[in-house]
Amino acid sequence: MKAYSLLLVLLSLFASSKVMSDEAEDLIKYRKGLMKSSSMSVKALFNYSRGKLSLSMGSVQHHADIIYHNAQLLNNDLEAVFPEGSIIEGETDAKPAIWKHWTDFVEKSDGYVTATEEFRALVNTNPSKQEIMNGFRKMRKACGSCHRRYKADD
Ligand code: HEC
Repeated sequence: MKAYSLLLVLLSLFASSKVMSDEAEDLIKYRKGLMKSSSMSVKALFNYSRGKLSLSMGSVQHHADIIYHNAQLLNNDLEAVFPEGSIIEGETDAKPAIWKHWTDFVEKSDGYVTATEEFRALVNTNPSKQEIMNGFRKMRKACGSCHRRYKADD
């Protein structure tokens, strides 16, 4: 009987840690998805501003909207999307420095929203490709400044 209850305890412990790691896996996929979506739009706009991809101004504006909305989605739920310790080796490039310097990470995320909002405002003024290119360089600094500290392999 004793051994049986011990087995039950062990089984339930195993089950709960499995749920936790399933949840962490889903979260990691979600935050990577937000990043990949922005990256796709960033690439499209980069190619557009260099004359390599022909897009209507409407589509250019949609891409700027997507990047801004992704930044907002991340920022609104930053704590839920990056809960402490949500690191599974091989699955994530998030660095432990995120939780060590949480306030700075929050600032980077706020800066990301501001930068993408400014970029979106610029794109809504019917700018030239050169103007988009300039605004775009500025906006991308927000990506790089966070990655440099908080993403592995950057
Ligand atoms: C507030 C910090 C922060 C900002 C700002 C940010 N990122 Fe990220 N990004 C991360 C972190 C952390 C990861 C690693 C996530 C993981 O692997 O769990 C990541 C991962 C990525 C990835 C890899 C996704 C994958 O499939 O592994 C891409 C691509 C990416 N970011 C693009 C961008 C682009 C483009 C921007 C700007 C438009 C941006 N990021 C802005 C923190 C940020």
